[in-house]
Amino acid sequence: MPDSIQELTPIKSGFFETLRLMKKSYNNPLEHSQYLQENHGNAVMQKVGKFTFVHLFGADANRLALLNQDQILSNKKAWDRIIGRIFPNGLMLRDGSDHRYHRRIMQAGFKNKAMKVYLDSMAKQAHDSIAEWTSSNKQQLLVYPTFKSLTLELAATIFLGMELGDDAKKISRAFETTVAASMPKIPLAIPGTILWKGIKARNFMCDFFLAQIEAKRAGNGNDMFSILCRAKDEDGNQYTDQEIVDHIIFLMMAAHDTTTSTLTSMTYALAKNPVWQDRLYEEVQSLGVDSLDYDSLDKMIETDLVMKEALRMYPPLSTLPKYSLKAFEFEGFTIPADSMVVTYPIHTHYMESYWDEPTVFDPLRFSEDRAEQKRHPYCWVPFSGGAHMCIGLHFASMQIKLVLFEMLKHYRWSVADGYEMPVQQSPISKPKDDLPIVLEKR
Ligand code: HEM
Repeated sequence: MPDSIQELTPIKSGFFETLRLMKKSYNNPLEHSQYLQENHGNAVMQKVGKFTFVHLFGADANRLALLNQDQILSNKKAWDRIIGRIFPNGLMLRDGSDHRYHRRIMQAGFKNKAMKVYLDSMAKQAHDSIAEWTSSNKQQLLVYPTFKSLTLELAATIFLGMELGDDAKKISRAFETTVAASMPKIPLAIPGTILWKGIKARNFMCDFFLAQIEAKRAGNGNDMFSILCRAKDEDGNQYTDQEIVDHIIFLMMAAHDTTTSTLTSMTYALAKNPVWQDRLYEEVQSLGVDSLDYDSLDKMIETDLVMKEALRMYPPLSTLPKYSLKAFEFEGFTIPADSMVVTYPIHTHYMESYWDEPTVFDPLRFSEDRAEQKRHPYCWVPFSGGAHMCIGLHFASMQIKLVLFEMLKHYRWSVADGYEMPVQQSPISKPKDDLPIVLEKR
């Protein structure tokens, strides 16, 4: 324990240095965070104009920020600034008792019974889509956009209960425009800007969904939209119409880019490590099923290890912002109120104090024997933690396993010799070149 508590003071950097650091924090949060931590320690304050940023490093910082035991940190105030105009009132943009109330009702969409139905509805669609990726024996494929459209197609079924058709296409297009506008470079909503287009697309989706609520409430649909329309907490409380719409749009966004990102990094890792691709193929074959069923998910143990390792090396959300409502202490420093407090899953995921050879792809580090993730309860945090821990993590794992199951059954894939995926780590991790691979039919 430190003997005395000091005020945290901003690091000194001139205008151009601040600009360089801001750019770096966007383009390469790993290098940026390693630079800050090595040069300034585990708590680093930066002033950018009138804004105060406090970067906190290490698994203890993750525990403090994510557990948020004394409700010092607000998710709403942080995320409202970042995505609040496009995804207002989403679950992640709520705090305290309001957040707990909304999360309790939403649980209905993630119960085992609902998940089984989602898997059954997705299985044939995933099978048919993936089987059509190539008609020739060998072909190049751009992985990232392929997964993006696949997860969007699956979302239309699972989240909205829509048959593929014109309406689903219109909604998918509106959704893509909305997501593209969630963190715009020019945050101005004037005609023609990305943000303006995003707000228009969101309004279109809101109207479209609002018009369906009455029928969805009365019906017995098994898609997430229908389930949220009927969901109640233990006291019988239900979402209002507008709350349903806000939640479903947010859920689609939260699911879409993160799952696409994880599938992409797993595909890359398996292309670079064909031994692991063969191991997963063996695992999928050993299940002895043509179509993935719910009971087989837990048997995909090695797929699970690869997923965890991909999430360690390429966490879709490399940083997690919170906003301090009050001053608090961290490792001998007072962190002031009204600061953007940023923790870094990506930094912790590469710390040598928790991981053996952290730059090496080694799924077995998550095996029961080694269990490196147990060296600290907050050293592996791709799904965050505490009250805001990702509600969709089992859904994500199910969808990822389904897609990989179909991919492995149909194809083997590789990347060019010496290829290294250029990663854009922020706002959601993705390859800058869309990840070109060569697919070969099995
Ligand atoms: C591999 C895929 C995914 C990753 C890495 C991921 C990651 C995360 C992270 C880091 C957070 C917490 C952010 C914070 O602390 O402020 C979060 C929250 C959330 N995620 Fe996910 N997510 C994934 C997939 C999904 C899916 C598939 C869904 C929905 C089906 C989903 C729905 C949500 C929701 C609703 C929240 C807000 C939870 C709350 O605030 O209580 N996510 N996710």
